[in-house]
Amino acid sequence: TYSDAMDVSASIAVIGGTGFYSFFDSDAREVNPQTPFGSTSAPISIGSVGGVDVAFLPRHGRQHEYLPHSVPYRANMYALRSIGVQRVYAPCAVGSLQVNTGPGTIVVPDQLVDRTSGRVQTFFDSGAVHVSFADPYCPQMRQIAITSGDGVVGGGTMVVVEGPRFSTRAESQWYAGLGWSLVNMTGHPEAVLARELKICYAPIALVTDLDAGIAEGEGVTSSEVFEVFGATIGQLTSMLATALPEAARAPACSCADGEHDLHELLGL
Ligand code: ADE
Repeated sequence: TYSDAMDVSASIAVIGGTGFYSFFDSDAREVNPQTPFGSTSAPISIGSVGGVDVAFLPRHGRQHEYLPHSVPYRANMYALRSIGVQRVYAPCAVGSLQVNTGPGTIVVPDQLVDRTSGRVQTFFDSGAVHVSFADPYCPQMRQIAITSGDGVVGGGTMVVVEGPRFSTRAESQWYAGLGWSLVNMTGHPEAVLARELKICYAPIALVTDLDAGIAEGEGVTSSEVFEVFGATIGQLTSMLATALPEAARAPACSCADGEHDLHELLGL
């Protein structure tokens, strides 16, 4: 199988978002697994955090080559699973739809709304595989993340838009009016692909802007997103330094309860 070919492994991983392209010093080991779904966004590096092996994969590539709609989500998740990953923290840049959750805030949402279109969102072409997704994120990993940093906001609904453009004011006001709190471009299908692979998954959303609906003026720009993410990344990595060893040692949870057989269906 694909997993047998790998000589390195890690049980937990971080998928770095916009502005987060490396996690370890240059002495990290590196693997470049090929998958039935093609190549990953970048080679996977593996280093030690608090005594546990952690895999790191920059979602958009090391040079930010992949836009949200063209990230190889299936290859990324499959490759991580093939080196033994069972838990994933997924930092991502988000716009906030609520004025009281401003730029620089870290949020661990608990719900997702899919407004993407045309993205492949499953590994399966046949068989009756319908994973449960009522609660899209791992409750255990969310809880650990929320308690791993000061001022981390727990809960909220993240709407994932197709992009790569930002939302119009009307769209943004619509989302806010529905009570949704964050807007992002990469949270889907990543989360559901993790669930299909029985991987515990939790996003760590870093608010970079107030999107277009609630602030007067220009609306969001790309440079604003990069700038705020860059300024807050230290806070994010220190939070991960606390959360990763704890999550890696947590007992198995219900995210792995899917009825389908991964070995039989995907060789994993
Ligand atoms: N990522 C960061 N800010 C965003 C926004 N306002 N909309 C969509 N994705 C984002």
